[in-house]
Amino acid sequence: MSIRTLIIEDDRTYARILERITTNEGFEPAIARTGEEGLEMAKEISPALVLCDIGLPGIDGIEVVRRISAKEPGTVIIVVSGQATVENSVEAMRAGAFDIIQKTSDQDEIKLRLHRAMEAANLRRQIEYLNMRDRDFGEIVGESPTMQSVKKRIEEVAISPSSTVLIVGDTGTGKELVARAVHRLSIRRNKPLIAVNCAAVPENLMESVFFGHEKGAFSGADKTKTGLFETASGSSLFLDEIGELDLRLQAKLLRAMEEKVITRVGGVREIPVDVRLITATNRDLTKEVSNGNFREDLMYRINGFKIDIPPLANRGNDILILARHFMFTFAKQLSKRAKIIDQESEKILMSYSFPGNVRQLRNLIEQAVILSSGDILGPDLFKGITQNRESSTTGVIDLWSQKGVDTRSLDERWNALEEQKKILEDEENILIEEALSTSGGTKTMAAKALGISRFALQRRLKKINL
Ligand SMILES: Nc1ncnc2c1ncn2[C@@H]1O[C@H](COP(=O)(O)OP(=O)(O)OP(=O)(O)O)[C@@H](O)[C@H]1O
Ligand SMILES: [Mg+2]
Repeated sequence: MSIRTLIIEDDRTYARILERITTNEGFEPAIARTGEEGLEMAKEISPALVLCDIGLPGIDGIEVVRRISAKEPGTVIIVVSGQATVENSVEAMRAGAFDIIQKTSDQDEIKLRLHRAMEAANLRRQIEYLNMRDRDFGEIVGESPTMQSVKKRIEEVAISPSSTVLIVGDTGTGKELVARAVHRLSIRRNKPLIAVNCAAVPENLMESVFFGHEKGAFSGADKTKTGLFETASGSSLFLDEIGELDLRLQAKLLRAMEEKVITRVGGVREIPVDVRLITATNRDLTKEVSNGNFREDLMYRINGFKIDIPPLANRGNDILILARHFMFTFAKQLSKRAKIIDQESEKILMSYSFPGNVRQLRNLIEQAVILSSGDILGPDLFKGITQNRESSTTGVIDLWSQKGVDTRSLDERWNALEEQKKILEDEENILIEEALSTSGGTKTMAAKALGISRFALQRRLKKINL
């Protein structure tokens, strides 16, 4: 593959020389004669390499370099100069040039510099890629063999752009983090991941949320609305708590996955969608299938690639690595001094069962940092779990191990709510309009049908300007 190259040089003879050298070295040169033309062509052909003369008529070379490197920071720019001085070299580098070549240099020297610049650019790209990868895993902390294999699974599936991914793990094990990592490491990463929690959307609104609706599909649907599948086309769609989906929607979801088309509620047109589906559940889907709560064919369909996330208690030393990670994060956030977890506390943490997994550990450390007064987190700050452990053996209820307790921190719960709020508000308006039209516009009746007070309905109507 030849490297697209732009030569910006008003001196025809020298432009020809550069053209010959670059062609011989496997580059694919195009020539511009003025700064303006150079900028124009740079936009058109997006060159990987630009060779730019300093003394150009019109916009001068330094300015051209500045503009190209601002637009396309990845482009390698080499400045060519009749008389390279220290001053104009510095200026060229500042403007974004990688190197400066004297017009008096011989061919070998020029070749050498061209290749050196391209190698440096490749290296830079590689480093950027590695940094990006590190950053994208950055959020997932843990070195235990089980977590290493989770990370390996994420990388494996990220590169196949359409495979469905099923993430299975107990509450608080990091399913959402894993879903986001799969998306970010995939070629779909330039578009945002669309995420929705199936347990948070009321059943009767689900179909419209997923697939959208046409104008007039039902009373209240006064505008066409696209659903999540259409929005996520070209990207990934994360359906959290997939086990909560009712059977009717399961059938529709299966069809969307198999035929790669959706139909909006009230519509007939089939709309093609290209979505990578990532799902998560803390239920045992096989069991749900045998209980008749989950379609077997859908289970196979979403299970293109399964990632099992182990409970925190099975991750050995990761407990301490995570504990320190959270300690530093919260200490910084809360301007606290905490920087050491003492040995006794480490023992307490290592022997605790963590039914709420990483989320519980995170909240525990947050509390400990808040209550701490010096550099050290000591065992008195972890009384909560030691007492609970003792109390559960004495028959007193251990809150953490009770099923159904929401172990998320308040701000986590708040953020999740905010996310769902927008979807719900839209749908709420539709319900209100539907209630009003069935009641023939009588607010008292509509409010009754909605199960809210007339006053609440009025406030709501005022808000949406009805
Ligand atoms: N390996 C990890 N490294 C750092 N933070 C983590 C890790 N795993 C989980 N967390 C943190 O723990 C909290 C819970 O994680 P997450 O929401 O991904 O869990 P979940 O499995 O989706 O839980 P649920 O089943 O309740 O939805 C989040 O604050 C997340 O950032
Ligand atoms: Mg989750």
